[in-house]
Amino acid sequence: MSHRSTGTLVVGASQAGVHLAATLRELGDMAPIALLGAEAHAPYQRPPLSKEFLAGDGGHDGIAFRTDAWYADHRVDLVCGERVVDVALTESGPEGSGLARTSSGLEIAFDRLALTVGARPRRLAVPGSDLSGVLYLRDLDDAVRLRTALANASRVIVVGGGFIGLEAAAAARARGAEVTVVEAADRLVPRAVAPVVSQFYRQAHERRGATVLLDSIVAGFTGEHGSVTDVELADGRVLRADLVLVGIGVVPRTELADQLGLLCDGGIVVDSRARTSTPSVVAAGDCTVLPHPMTGAGLVRLESVPSAIAQAGVAAATLLGLSPDTRSVPWFWSNQGDLKLQIAGLSAGFDHLVLRGDPDSERFSVLYYRDGELLAVDAMNNPMDYLVVRKALTQGASIPAELAANADVPLKKMLAAAQTLR
Ligand code: NAI
Repeated sequence: MSHRSTGTLVVGASQAGVHLAATLRELGDMAPIALLGAEAHAPYQRPPLSKEFLAGDGGHDGIAFRTDAWYADHRVDLVCGERVVDVALTESGPEGSGLARTSSGLEIAFDRLALTVGARPRRLAVPGSDLSGVLYLRDLDDAVRLRTALANASRVIVVGGGFIGLEAAAAARARGAEVTVVEAADRLVPRAVAPVVSQFYRQAHERRGATVLLDSIVAGFTGEHGSVTDVELADGRVLRADLVLVGIGVVPRTELADQLGLLCDGGIVVDSRARTSTPSVVAAGDCTVLPHPMTGAGLVRLESVPSAIAQAGVAAATLLGLSPDTRSVPWFWSNQGDLKLQIAGLSAGFDHLVLRGDPDSERFSVLYYRDGELLAVDAMNNPMDYLVVRKALTQGASIPAELAANADVPLKKMLAAAQTLR
């Protein structure tokens, strides 16, 4: 068993973990940093995995966050292929210090702990789900497997019409496969967009040749020689398949937080400064639930790269005893082939929406309001509306709903007019 010690131990080497380590250095922290990742690969960007990566033939080099030299220059001790399985804080030592142990038996003593452990894909627990050809997509190895399988697949079933499902469906169609999306809910992307955008997605993917089945539950998979051949739906329909991609959401990794006795509620509960219920331990990224970043009310899981980055920056500052600016406007994007969605703000709790433009033109936006206040925008192939709403939300400004519907007038003008009146 080997043993080492560090200043800050960052468990989880993806978007949040890398940004947290980089921010500690930017803020002048000189203490040793160990960044531990369970994957064999040095940290890389996940967003391309369901988009360009599937469509192309690139490898890890094209999506890596940093070079080996960067880790060395910044004295970030990157340890790949090690999963932390046990962690405890010392009872008598300095506050926040403790000991972690990996599955291979490596022990790391730390002065400070950050959990950036992310989430795992939710598994579909039905008969036949262990057949070869039933795949998930979260990490690079998954994406390589999926890309290889797509090259030989002519009938692809995508289970789950969320972001993973629709991005991968677009990539599979672009490769010429027959694609059917099987969604359990009565509309696509129900977690993140309004019905009008769900309806648009359905029509746009159908126009591109995909079949979309809503209100459809997978009962099981059957196969031959260990490989999937059919998807059975609960209503008795059977869909032929030589590849199945399951994208039915994620489950935050909370095992280590549970060991530490940290409060978890659909994720590790953190405050606006990324402190867990044991304030010396911080957490950031997909593993967390946090107060609404604009209103401070309730708890939300943001599941987005920009939010992971913002929160990791806050967590680094908190570890150093600084008081970071915690207000940030969440934003998000999804490229499904040529359908480019950009979201700014959080629409949850809206009581009114305004549609700008005609969804049939494949360029439109939806502005969400509550009590007359602008909350968020979903902009489809419309970067200008996205940018203006993001700016308005950043400035705490609004755009009157009664004006916004007029797509002939740029939102920029309306924002400027609203600012003059304030
Ligand atoms: P998701 O939550 O976006 O969508 C899951 C979908 O599966 C939902 O439409 C849900 O109704 C459906 N579903 C749930 N159970 C089902 C079942 N048994 N049968 C059929 N449908 C079912 O999660 P998704 O797409 O798996 O993505 C995982 C994570 O990756 C999310 O956090 C997402 O935000 C993130 N992601 C982000 C992207 C981006 O930044 N553009 C791209 C792809 C994924």
